[in-house]
This record gives sequence, structure tokens and C-alpha cells, in this order.
Amino acid sequence: MKDDFVSDNQAELIDLLTSLFEADELRRFVRLLPQGRRLSAALPAGTASLDQLAFETATLLERHGLLGAPLFDSLLNARSYRADEIEAVRRLFAAADPSEQQDTVALESEMPYLEWFFGRDELAEELAARVARDRVTPIAILGPGGIGKSTLAIAAVHHDDVVARYGERRYFVRLDGAPSADAVLERLGKAVGLAGAVTLRDVRASLCRSPALLVLDNLETPWEHDTGSTEALLGQIGNVRGVALVITMRGATKPAGLAWDKPVQVERLSDVAAREMFCAIANPDAPDDPVVDQLVGALDGIPLAIKLLAHRAEGDILANLQAEWTRSRMALLLRPDMEPDRLSSWEISVELSWTSPRMTDAARRLASLLALLPDGVAVEDADALVPGHGHAAVRVLGQVALAYAEAPRLRMLAPVRQHLSAMHRPSQDDLLRTMEHYRALAADYERARPLFEQVGSVLGQADCIMSLGDLALRRSEHEQAKACYEQALSLFDTES
Ligand SMILES: Nc1ncnc2c1ncn2[C@@H]1O[C@H](COP(=O)(O)OP(=O)(O)O)[C@@H](O)[C@H]1O
Ligand SMILES: [Mg+2]
Repeated sequence: MKDDFVSDNQAELIDLLTSLFEADELRRFVRLLPQGRRLSAALPAGTASLDQLAFETATLLERHGLLGAPLFDSLLNARSYRADEIEAVRRLFAAADPSEQQDTVALESEMPYLEWFFGRDELAEELAARVARDRVTPIAILGPGGIGKSTLAIAAVHHDDVVARYGERRYFVRLDGAPSADAVLERLGKAVGLAGAVTLRDVRASLCRSPALLVLDNLETPWEHDTGSTEALLGQIGNVRGVALVITMRGATKPAGLAWDKPVQVERLSDVAAREMFCAIANPDAPDDPVVDQLVGALDGIPLAIKLLAHRAEGDILANLQAEWTRSRMALLLRPDMEPDRLSSWEISVELSWTSPRMTDAARRLASLLALLPDGVAVEDADALVPGHGHAAVRVLGQVALAYAEAPRLRMLAPVRQHLSAMHRPSQDDLLRTMEHYRALAADYERARPLFEQVGSVLGQADCIMSLGDLALRRSEHEQAKACYEQALSLFDTES
């Protein structure tokens, strides 16, 4: 009987795997699991069908005792937009193993502690001051994945003034893997210490007893999957008298349904803080070695990427690490000693945004092109690169924070570019269209220039050369752009 039960569950898991992945994606997913290398080696060769691979994967996972919470967390990390189906299969397996449920309960009620904290003292002070006030308007902490939103919230939660005001009534509720408003309510109930089936009324009653700080971390998961109900729940919770509500959310937009205070936009770490963070973790023999700056500079101030690379640098020779970095960048942004998730693998972190339900095909197309343009694209060019959908794509990429605006351009952080350019190449059509767009623009200006020279319009000439400089910059040809600007400037000078 028990065997039948397990094999039913196995069948569900196999169906799930085949519906979530293509064959090569499944192989990559397995490789990133704990013991992933060993598991990968035991999978059938390259020609195996997806069904066969899924069957073998499920069998191997069972044989190695890996059908527990970490597997489903990894699935959720890899395919967060399919959370409902993943949770359904997780529940089947959890029903067969009650110890798992207890683990989850214990985890959720823990208050996270603050590890390293670089470069954001001022921001944390400001946030703590806002949170420790008598009446707190809800605050959203926004920004791209791995930029340090949760860590900033944790720092504020442990600030002396915040501890003095809320004491034990500080609740930090992690919502990764909570795909619906109901799941949020359940976690909220556990956080505030309610047992059994939790109702909204119970939670509100518990919260309004005396001032409480409630941090909802990674709210994007339930919000993206169950938007309306999550916003309704937030409205009910955020308006409880005495509750200070803080959310962290991947992206640049906050949920509707509440009158929010000014959001905290978390941006990249300063060069100094990034360097300090890298050296604190990596402990290099020669912290002044210029290689440190080169390595850290490539990470664009993203704490998650800095942390992952710094762990790799620990005990290594910097020149050795640099050589490996040049060869295989993304492979180093991974903690091989940890279960792969959004905090131990840069790939998983970026994929979480790439597969977000907010993403569209057009946004993915533009993202793949942006990944090849280190200086980004001028927003006005977006529609030429992805005809008919460019401007909508710009908006979506901003909203999920895979790209950011630095007017008048849209840019992408270097480690995001590196992952996407390795994993999600643009189609040949999109690539050719983009190259043709810049080539045609450059040709126009090149043609116009001799005309201005003939009629003796120095300013016309200067404008043409400036435009060529802009084009060069869009294609990230800095030296060429600089030369154009210098040449144009000298013409402007002659005229004045
Ligand atoms: N200011 C910081 N100083 C040191 N480490 C940080 C800092 N901010 C984030 N980190 C580390 O970077 C990783 C990602 O941070 P996290 O706060 O989880 O990002 P997010 O919530 O924006 O996805 C974590 O491992 C965290 O410990
Ligand atoms: Mg977070």
C-alpha cells in the first residue's frame, strides 16, 4: 500500500518536472541541486527524451533521499510563476513525511539576524527613524534581486530605537514560496503566535493589541501570483491601528490598496563599500592589489554577487581567481557548498526575475539585446529594436528591475547582463535588426556631414559629429564617442 502511495506521488512529480522544464533545462536544474554533480552523472545520455529524463530524475532523487523541502524550494526558485502546481506536489510528499511540516513552522517564526552590513548605515538609520515613529505609513523597500532589500529591513528591525519601541512585537515574515494571499495569512498567523486555522480577524486582533512592526519580506511572490487578494489582505493588515508595515519587494512598483509612504529604492553599493565588503569576506593577502578593484568593479555594487565571488576568493590566490573569472564568470557566482537558491546562486536569482509573471515576450527580447549593449540603449530606440512593443518592454523591464533608467537610456547591471548574454541570447532576427538600426543611423549622419561642410555650416557639422558620438556611446564604443565629442566641441568653439 505504502509503495503504491509513494509511486503515485512519484508520478505526480514526474508530470510536474516534464511540465516545468525542457530536457536541457531539467539537466541544468539537476546539476544545481545538492549532490547535483553526482546526480547529473547518473542521468541518461544526451539523446534521452524529456519523459525518460524526468523519470530517471525522480527515481534518483528518491534513491538519494532528496524528495524533501530543499527540492521543492529549488523548484520554486527556478519556476516561481508555477508555484501553485509545485506547492500541490510538495503537499503530497509532505503528507507522507510529517517531520517536514514541523521544520517549516520552526523556520518561519525565527527572527533573522544581521550578518555583514556595509555601506547602508545611513539608509538603515533613516528607515529605522521612520519605523520608530508613533504613526507609521506603510513603507515599501524596492529594487532588483540581490541588491540588499531584505538585509536593509533586517538592519532596521534590529536598530536600537526600533527594538525600544516594539520589543518582542517585531515580526519578520518571509514570503518566498507563499504563492497566495491565503499562504500569507497562514504565515502571518504563525509569526504572531496563533495556532491552528488562522483567520484574518484573529491576526488583526492580535496585531492591534499594542504597537507592532510587521515586515513582509519578498512580497513579490504572493503579489505576482494572487495580486487582487494579496492587495486586499495588505489593506486589511496595513490599516490596523498601531501596525508599522514594511514590505520588501523585487522590482520597482509597489502593490495598490494602501496609502504608501515614499518607497526606499535600494541601489548599488558604492565602490568603497563594495570593496570593503569583498575584502571582509575574502580576506585577501594583499587587499591593495588592483585585481581586487577589477574583480569587484565587474559586479556593479550588487551585494549578492559580491558575496558569492568573495566566498570563492577566500583562501584562493587572487590572480588565479581572476583567470577563472575571465574564463567562466557565472560559474563562480555560486556557493557550491550550499543548496542552490536565490541567495546561493546568481543564476537562480536572475532567473527568478526573468521568469516573473510580470515579464512579457517583448520584455525578454529587449532584455536579451540589452545584455549585449554594456551602455544600454536610448529609450527612444527601443521601438526600433523590438518593433511595436519596445516602449511597453522598457516599462516591464523597469518594473521587474531587470533594467533601470538612467535618462535618457535604459541600462542593465553588469552581472545581470553576463547571465542573460550567456543563457538567453537574442534571436538572429532581433540581433540583425539591432545592428542594422545603428548602422543606418550612422550612415545618415555620415551622409549629412559633407553637405554641411560644402555649405560651410560649422554648427551643422558639429551636430552631425555629436550625433555620431551618441551612436558610438549607445554601442558602447567609448573611445570613438570621446573622439567625436572632442572634435564636435572644437567646431562649436570655432563658431563662438
Ligand atoms: N549591505 C550589505 N552588506 C553586506 N552584505 C549584504 C548587504 N546587503 C546584502 N548583503 C548580502 O547580499 C545577499 C543578498 O541580499 P538580500 O538582502 O537578500 O537581497 P534582496 O533582498 O534585495 O534580494 C545576502 O546574502 C546578504 O547577506
Ligand atoms: Mg530579499
